[in-house]
Amino acid sequence: GDSLYKAMLSRGRTFAGTALTLRDEPAEPKIVHQEFNSFTPENAMKWESTEPSRNSFTFTDADRYAKYAKDNKLQIHCHTLVWHSQLPAWVANGGFDNKTLIAIMENHIKVLAARYKNVCTRWDVVNEALEEDGTYRKSVWYNTIGDAFLPIAFKFAAKYTDKKTKLFYNDYNLEYNGTKTDGAARIVKLVKSYGIKIDGVGYQAHLATEATPTSPGAAPNTSVLEAALRKTADLGVDVAYTEIDLRMNTPATAAKLAVQARFYESVAKSCLNVKRCVGMTVWGISDKYSWIPGVFAGEGAALVWDENYNKKPAYAGLLKGILKK
Ligand code: G3I
Repeated sequence: GDSLYKAMLSRGRTFAGTALTLRDEPAEPKIVHQEFNSFTPENAMKWESTEPSRNSFTFTDADRYAKYAKDNKLQIHCHTLVWHSQLPAWVANGGFDNKTLIAIMENHIKVLAARYKNVCTRWDVVNEALEEDGTYRKSVWYNTIGDAFLPIAFKFAAKYTDKKTKLFYNDYNLEYNGTKTDGAARIVKLVKSYGIKIDGVGYQAHLATEATPTSPGAAPNTSVLEAALRKTADLGVDVAYTEIDLRMNTPATAAKLAVQARFYESVAKSCLNVKRCVGMTVWGISDKYSWIPGVFAGEGAALVWDENYNKKPAYAGLLKGILKK
């Protein structure tokens, strides 16, 4: 039958993935097996989940994902090492000086990278360091260390991960080819300017199919998406869509789902049109568990399978975008 990852491999790309939360939902492993050769742990490898207090690591949950990947021969897009969110208060509000915070960062990266050395195909090394206008987000990382926190994080990641592991910068709203996309290009150049390894940029692609209270309008068209991908790919790094979902004002209607299918096709097509776009990950399997309705009230229906695990028109759109030349 149809398979998203087989379609991607047939076009010379390396993965189709989903965000994964292991839960008691028998439909999910079946879909993963059929459709995906990669997953991103939705929460399990984040700082608050792995180092809730200083130098005290908890890997019970994250280890389940590493085992699931091994048992099922799946890639893991490991997520994420340095981020301002889901960062425990002991780091975010600890009042550490520059030197101490760098040491804390190094220890975290070292321990995580070592534990999952053979299971992480890619790592999101730094996540969401940019404001919408492309300037740096005023996080504890930036406020304490300055923009040097980016090359420093990549330096540690390169030091402690396997040579084969691809190191990514990951962010949302890079898809519009605007000032925030320029910011991502600036980050790639900054890291490279020190001769430090950075392999890719993840375009999260949390987009909408129409104007919603939290989106000024529908997702960009294929040519804008493509130009946005090229802005960093042209600097000599891989690019990927890492957290795709296309939300709408709910409830969904047949007409809205048809529009959504065209947007999924367009996102896929933009990736296939860019040689260095290595893969795509959707941010979850079923609308039943998507993060969107809980955070953006009145919005949702953003994924490719509905609440009952039936394929939505989006599935055919996605496949068409991958396969159509
Ligand atoms: O595990 C606790 C549970 O014990 C508690 O009872 C419950 C009550 O709220 O919360 C549970 O934690 C939640 C966690 O997901 C696991 O379900 C958190 O509240 C909730 O905030 C968290 O949301 C995650 C969100 O990141 C946090 O920022 C979403 O699942 C996850 O999909 C989302 O993913 C992010 C990416 O990492 C980065 N890019 C944006 C993307 C969407 O926001």
